[in-house]
Amino acid sequence: SFEVVLQKSGVTLTVEEDQTIIGAMEAAGLEPMTSCEQGVCGTCLTTVLEGEPDHRDFYLNPTEKESGTLILPCVSRCKGKKLVLDL
Ligand code: FES
Repeated sequence: SFEVVLQKSGVTLTVEEDQTIIGAMEAAGLEPMTSCEQGVCGTCLTTVLEGEPDHRDFYLNPTEKESGTLILPCVSRCKGKKLVLDL
């Protein structure tokens, strides 16, 4: 599991191995912007403030992935223990 801090909401979530970031948000009663849930459409595109994303999407180009500043939280995860998102 890893931790996700939603900076604007002031909420910290634990994302279990069998959960997505979006799934953990919904389980906590939040209503994230989401559509395809497959990392394709870009609806859930979010700015990463801290931490290293583990990109699993088909939306960002390689340069964007390398920058580490954007994430598609419907599929992507965290390489470390904690991500801080601009949500
Ligand atoms: Fe479509 Fe995340 S909901 S990319």
